[in-house]
Amino acid sequence: MHETAASAAGHVAELVRAQVRSKPGSVLGLATGATMESVYADLVSSVRSGALSLSQVTTFNLDEYAGLTASHPGSYRGTMNALLFDHTDIDKNRCFLPDGTASDLTAEADRYEALIAERGPVDLQLLGIGRNGHIGFNEPGSDLESRTRLVDLHPSTQEANKSFFSGEAVPSQALTMGIATILSARTIVVLATGEAKAEAVAKALSGCFDATCPASALMSHAHVHWVLDRAAAQLLA
Ligand code: F6R
Repeated sequence: MHETAASAAGHVAELVRAQVRSKPGSVLGLATGATMESVYADLVSSVRSGALSLSQVTTFNLDEYAGLTASHPGSYRGTMNALLFDHTDIDKNRCFLPDGTASDLTAEADRYEALIAERGPVDLQLLGIGRNGHIGFNEPGSDLESRTRLVDLHPSTQEANKSFFSGEAVPSQALTMGIATILSARTIVVLATGEAKAEAVAKALSGCFDATCPASALMSHAHVHWVLDRAAAQLLA
């Protein structure tokens, strides 16, 4: 447990650096969202200072909004370019996200799942957690066996993400890795900071799988690091 969100994010960046240094061709699973921004800023400064190279990694992002092109600042491809990809030596040909503009989004989900199976497994998966306990865009009620698919976003998730859309409507659908896809990673690192996440964190860590809190599925994985600040950990016994 960390006193501050900054220290928690620094710890996650350190776990990524350690992973890439021990295996330069690592497959990294990436998340977007406000929580991850300082992790990526930390990694960018490591690459800029020469302390880290991402030139051999392959990355798979968890999710992408339906209908948004990379040039839309709210799109996750655009976000990843702005936060990480454009500022490091990463090879963008090996940076994968679902294509939210595909004409057949169901086929695109299947293609993405197959690509992860082909190039994976993911060595280290970064995860944030939604206030409602979602991981990726697996909203409450998601199946433990779910794979990459098209999902409807919960209105509370649209509300939580509206700051990224400056007044425009937040898309109502997204492509997301499923819970089973996420659990197929070798190691998972969950970063949760701030008191808005405290309830979801407590529910996720309370015992066995509870479909009302998809993050509780992580209890069944042998290698999950929960990296929390004091505010997010406040409801843990
Ligand atoms: C993002 C994602 C989401 C976020 C979660 C937390 O790719 O899949 O599950 O990790 O919504 O978002 P923030 O960090 O904005 O609170």
